[in-house]
Amino acid sequence: MKHLLSIEQLSSREIHGLLDSAAHLKLQRGRDGTQLAGQTWALIFTKSSTRTRVSFEVGIRELGGFPMFLSKNDIQLGRGELIKDTARVLGRMVHGAIIRTFAQQDVIEFSEYSGIPTINALTDDEHPCQILADLLTVREKLGGWEGRKVAFIGDGFSNMTRSWLWAAKRLGFQLAIASPVSCQPPAEFLTALDAPNVSVTADPRIAVTDAHVINTDVWLSMGQEQQQDKEREFAGFEVNAGLLASAAAGHIVLHCLPAYRGKEISAEILELHAATIFQQAENRLHAQKAILVALVR
Ligand code: CP
Ligand code: NVA
Repeated sequence: MKHLLSIEQLSSREIHGLLDSAAHLKLQRGRDGTQLAGQTWALIFTKSSTRTRVSFEVGIRELGGFPMFLSKNDIQLGRGELIKDTARVLGRMVHGAIIRTFAQQDVIEFSEYSGIPTINALTDDEHPCQILADLLTVREKLGGWEGRKVAFIGDGFSNMTRSWLWAAKRLGFQLAIASPVSCQPPAEFLTALDAPNVSVTADPRIAVTDAHVINTDVWLSMGQEQQQDKEREFAGFEVNAGLLASAAAGHIVLHCLPAYRGKEISAEILELHAATIFQQAENRLHAQKAILVALVR
């Protein structure tokens, strides 16, 4: 594995390998590694972050490396310097790059021009680091996803949903997406995905029925904050006690965070499932350490 740009580009074997490594690194925490000794990794972020930034900075240090955080306002990228020029400069100075931005193409271009391992820390298309942490959480809480139904309630074609769609394709679990019609994955995408284990509905009750994992995310992703019309489409899509009544016994609730209580999830359900949701947040650290180790191996 040279880069981690998407779940789409990972094989089932690579996903399982990363999760095994993450579980191992989680057990080993406290015994710092040396896999990144002598290395500097740049974090180039053009969007806000709490979890991704902190977990990467801590993870790089725990592996013996040095993280260098560069927000777009700190570097010339924010003043219009091209990605390919930024990539060719950083590629000569740092050992790896972790990029959070809008266009997936920018992360791809950076990886091509820099020649250094590049990690997608969230784009408009995918959030692969998050999905690996989510899968690790499902494995820890439910023992795996074989025979399980995963429901995603919310924006049906966000970065989170797209990464879940590719995870379902690669791993074969049942994925039911409930989303307003205007936010559902386009028919061409679903045809190309060709995953009979994926279903899409506009009725969250159908998706949640008998689901073992109920997953949600903000209705308006970063960059969409002004789209009030889009937000109005989500009336009836709150993950709350009423909706969860038909979920499978022993179900878990996931949220990648940040959460907006009273919108995509009720305060009651978030607090009821806080142990899982914050375990999921912690798993970002372990999953990303596994990605870093895989990229320098
Ligand atoms: N879930 C997630 O990526 O959180 P941050 O935006 O805080 O990094
Ligand atoms: N879909 C959300 C995920 C945040 C971690 C966003 O892009 O804002």
